[in-house]
Amino acid sequence: MVEMKKIELSIPDLQGNEEDYVVDAIRSTWISSTGKYVNEFERMFTDIAGTQQAISVCNGTVALHLALLALDVRPGDEVIVPSLTYIATANAVRYVGAEPVFVDVSPETWCMDPELTEQAITRKTKGIIAVDLYGHPADMDAINHIAAIHGLWVVEDAAEAHTAKYKGRRAGSLAKIGTFSFYGNKVFTSGEGGAITVNDPDLALRIRTLRGQGMDPDRRYYFPITGYNFRLTNVACAILCAQLERAGSIIAKRQSVFNRYRELLDGVPGIDFQPVAEWAEPAPWLFSITIDPASFGCNRDDLADYLRGNGVDTRPFFIPLHSLPPFRNESAARGEHLPITDALAASGLNLPTHAFLTEEDIVSVCDLIRACGKIKK
Ligand SMILES: Cc1ncc(COP(=O)(O)O)c(C=O)c1O
Repeated sequence: MVEMKKIELSIPDLQGNEEDYVVDAIRSTWISSTGKYVNEFERMFTDIAGTQQAISVCNGTVALHLALLALDVRPGDEVIVPSLTYIATANAVRYVGAEPVFVDVSPETWCMDPELTEQAITRKTKGIIAVDLYGHPADMDAINHIAAIHGLWVVEDAAEAHTAKYKGRRAGSLAKIGTFSFYGNKVFTSGEGGAITVNDPDLALRIRTLRGQGMDPDRRYYFPITGYNFRLTNVACAILCAQLERAGSIIAKRQSVFNRYRELLDGVPGIDFQPVAEWAEPAPWLFSITIDPASFGCNRDDLADYLRGNGVDTRPFFIPLHSLPPFRNESAARGEHLPITDALAASGLNLPTHAFLTEEDIVSVCDLIRACGKIKK
């Protein structure tokens, strides 16, 4: 019997100097959160994000939490977030005792709708977390403009958008604070890891102080404030340095996967691609499609089951946060109604995207998608 080839959703690409640098970090004995790879990573990542500073932290959730701590968000405050995102965006708001208020996304970007964001502002609103969903930047000029009028701050959650650009500017540099994740499925990864990107030196100092237990930068072991241990290790930064020195080729490979999917799935009835705004250069994270059951022949879940049955792993879009148990009662009490988010969440699917996909694999995924639509019709 021929064994069915399994096509994974995501596999980290660790084919460069990752192993050598990790061995070097171990041999140097600098395995905690100081060492040359931490410094080098923080320097290199400023080029990716286009900011004055990049601050390594232990994951993308912590990056958001630390951003909100640095901005002094408190119990009783409200923070406006999209509902179509990973749960970390809203969890971080709860960590500081504040309440996430959910807004719908725009069909043109799948990111938070600036007009609806403005309508959600109340007297309790302190800021906005805009998410660059599935690698596509949010409309940050519009969001920053609204925030400026109402005296709010903006955080850009660029966890999924490494190297994306907005009107030529880099994701991570588009708000007061940018945050990134380096989880194993991300474009650049250290398994677990994250970064905060900022231009303001005072804010950067506050973030670094909070990250390191609140220690006074000029007086060792003196702690003027309550801080956290949110640091990333030199070993993880060694992996990230090896990733970033190959940033161009990592992106190019993923982009070629995106291009093939677009060519091969173009014109399949009922399949639509992630939209790209004219001002956006999205990051090639996970290739995303939507399925219209009426013209395709079956719904998203049937397609995902069919692909899984044929060895292909996929991922449905995020379940809208406003419908999940930690948030749904508060959301219902506010009367939130987010039809675009609900429709995308029910119809969207992320396809396998990684460096080890062969031409045959991509053709096979697309053939299976076409076949599924025809069988089910
Ligand atoms: C939009 C978004 N924000 C935040 C996070 C949290 O990052 P981490 O998993 O590194 O904590 C992720 C993903 O993992 C994400 O996709």
